[in-house]
Amino acid sequence: MVSLETEIAGIVLKNPLGLGSCRLGYTGAQLVLAARQGFGFITTKSISVEPRNGYIPPCIYRKGSYILNAEGLPNLGMKQTRNEIDFYNKKAGNDRVPLGVSVFGSSVEEFQTITEYLDSEEFEFFELNLSCPHSDPTKKEACYLVGQDPELTAEVVKAVRKRTSKPIFVKLTPSVLNISYIAQSAVEAGADVISATNTMPAMDIHTENGLEGKPVLSNITGGMSGQSLLPISLKCVYNIREKLTRTPLVGIGGVCSGESLVKYLFAGASAVQAVSVFYNDGGYSNFQRIIDELKLYMMKNDYETIGEMVGLTHKKIR
Ligand SMILES: Cc1cc2nc3c(=O)[nH]c(=O)nc-3n(C[C@H](O)[C@H](O)[C@H](O)COP(=O)(O)O)c2cc1C
Repeated sequence: MVSLETEIAGIVLKNPLGLGSCRLGYTGAQLVLAARQGFGFITTKSISVEPRNGYIPPCIYRKGSYILNAEGLPNLGMKQTRNEIDFYNKKAGNDRVPLGVSVFGSSVEEFQTITEYLDSEEFEFFELNLSCPHSDPTKKEACYLVGQDPELTAEVVKAVRKRTSKPIFVKLTPSVLNISYIAQSAVEAGADVISATNTMPAMDIHTENGLEGKPVLSNITGGMSGQSLLPISLKCVYNIREKLTRTPLVGIGGVCSGESLVKYLFAGASAVQAVSVFYNDGGYSNFQRIIDELKLYMMKNDYETIGEMVGLTHKKIR
C-alpha cells in the first residue's frame, strides 16, 4: 500500500505536490479552486504592502519546454489579501489544504510590515520571495536580487523571524554561483525551509516577419520556468541538501510528471511546487495525472512512503 503523505516543518501534507506562487493563487476563490484539485499545499501570489498592477502585456511567453514571464509582481496588496485568506478559510471546507502566503518587499521593513500585518491570520507558513530585485546605490552592484546576497538574505530573514512564529520558507533564485551558501545564511538567520528555486533570469527575441528583433516580453527580460528549468533547480536542491542535511527542502522548477517529481525527492526535497505545467495544455487536469504517475512509480519500484525516496541520490554516491 502506497502512502503519499509527507511532512515539512511540522506541516503534514496529504501528498508532496504543491501549487507554487503565481496568478492561480491571487484571490480567495482561486485558492479554494486550487485546494479542490487535491494539492498537498498551496501558495498565494507574492504580495506587497500596497497593491500593484504589474507590467503591460506581453508578460507571459510560452515556447516548447519553457515559459518566460515578467509580470512585474501584480498583486492585491496585504490588506485585500487578508480578506482573500479569510474567504479561503471560510469556503474551502473539507477541501482545505495548508496555505502559504508568499511575501515580497522592496526593503527589509516592507517584509516586516507584511509579516506583522498577516501573522495572526489562519494559514500555515510564510514564503519569502527573495528573488526580487534589490537596488542599493551605496553598493557597486546597483541592481541585483536579494537572494544573490547572503548578508541581505540573512537580514530579511532575521527581521521576519522577529515578527512571526509561523514556519518561514525562503524561496531562492537559481542565478547564483553557489546556492548552498545563500541557503545556509537563510537557515542560520532563522529560516525553517528552503524553496528552490524561483525562475531563471532569461529572455527571448522574435524572428517572425514584422516582429523580428523585438523582445517577446514588454519588460525585455524575465524569468524562465518549465521543463527547461528542471536540471538547473534539481542541482540547486542537490547542492543545498549536501550542505544542510537537516533542513527540509521544497523543490521547484519543471515538475510536469510523476518522474520529475521523484527526481526532486531523490535530490533531497520532501515536497515540490509546480506552476508552469498548470499554464500548459490540460491546466489543472495535469495535477491528477502527476499524482497517478507518482503512485504508479512507487508501486512499480516498491516504495511505500515518500520518506524512503527523499535524499536517495546522496546515499547512492556515498
Ligand atoms: C506566470 C508566473 C508567475 C509567477 N509569479 C511568482 C510570484 O509571484 N512569486 C514567486 O515567488 N514566484 C512566482 N513564479 C515562479 C513560480 O512560483 C516557480 O518558482 C517557477 O515558475 C518554477 O516552477 P515551474 O517550472 O513549475 O513553473 C511565477 C511563475 C510564473 C510562470
